[in-house]
Amino acid sequence: MLDWDDAPAPAAPAPVRAAPPRAQTIVRTPEPKAMRVPPPDDFELTPTAAHAEAGATGLEAVEMGARRIQVDDKKIINCRADLNQLVPFKYEWAWKKYLDACNNHWMPQEINMSADIALWQDPNGLTEDERTIIKRSLGFFSTADSLVANNLVLAVYRHLTNPECRQYLLRQAFEEAIHTHAYQYCIESLGLDEAEVFNMYREVPSIHDKAAWSLPFTQSLADQTFHTGTPENDQRLLRDLIAFYVVFEGIFFYVGFVQLLSFGRRNKMVGVSEQIQYIMRDESMHMNFGIDVINQIKIENPHLWTPQFQQEIADMLHEATQLEIKYAHDTMPRGVLGLNASQFNEYLKFVCNRRCAQIGLKALYPGAENPFPWMSEVMDLKKEKNFFETRVTEYQTGGALSWD
Ligand SMILES: [Fe+2]
Ligand SMILES: [Fe+2]
Repeated sequence: MLDWDDAPAPAAPAPVRAAPPRAQTIVRTPEPKAMRVPPPDDFELTPTAAHAEAGATGLEAVEMGARRIQVDDKKIINCRADLNQLVPFKYEWAWKKYLDACNNHWMPQEINMSADIALWQDPNGLTEDERTIIKRSLGFFSTADSLVANNLVLAVYRHLTNPECRQYLLRQAFEEAIHTHAYQYCIESLGLDEAEVFNMYREVPSIHDKAAWSLPFTQSLADQTFHTGTPENDQRLLRDLIAFYVVFEGIFFYVGFVQLLSFGRRNKMVGVSEQIQYIMRDESMHMNFGIDVINQIKIENPHLWTPQFQQEIADMLHEATQLEIKYAHDTMPRGVLGLNASQFNEYLKFVCNRRCAQIGLKALYPGAENPFPWMSEVMDLKKEKNFFETRVTEYQTGGALSWD
């Protein structure tokens, strides 16, 4: 089952062949091709390989008679080998996560929303502060998953040059679509003003600030003229991966997760809360996949992980943690659901320390503790039964269940 703190998968060792030149500092060069890793002497430079530039698409001409793929031909970025051949596997952890994700398939319509609808429509069912939290959370998440999905398919997919990782990315992209669907389903079920909720990231400052923080990381990578293959550009990809997998999915989601799950713990909005359990299970795996990718890139390209770059990443994580603390205060000016904003100061520092450890950085907030240990239990959700026991027993793959 999924673990809150999946240790990074044992990374595949860096290939002996085609080892990139090591550099202690970022070398800026006006001619990116000059920095590309030269092929090893014994590399058979078929026309296919010659055309497969760093950041290959796998759409180059199919060369008759080209030799078969060897596992050592595979690299997580800047790979020259044919990207259309899934096997032989090099990164077993990526394939395993793909299989695990498929085994955890769920759809939003499977979850009974009738108790939520009744509670929301009852004028005395929820306080104004509770209603604000529901609306703000749905406002943030409803567009956040689209931002993540766009980063995946328009930026990350092109630059991760490994078929088993791309297989997982395709699954993740579908899961992001399911998450956006789940938020839309909650918004529609509760009869909320859809235009208001979906536009909150352009209207509510603390929601806007998180979305605006993330966008610059994906914008240059989505540029079709951008290619990896220089230390500077490879660092740009690494920075984007950390911004989206570690910060966005690993920090920015967690105030909303705690808030929405706290309703379920008090037997309120149990349908929304159950949707969030499934989403959080998926997001935990997305983040752990991203961390494995980040650490594998570091192993294969140690020259990218300079002291200056590490400091830049630490600064990024600190800034993001402060933004999420601000979001907690903005969405929860008063104590509600047994929660208060000061607990989130501690919690987000604790989460940030975890993220630092997972990518090999020192803790930014030594000694921070977890005020919400129950969050770990939620991570162990099993599809067949969960602790709210609201799960429908009828399973109708691909169909829509009616709750009216
Ligand atoms: Fe998502
Ligand atoms: Fe995700």
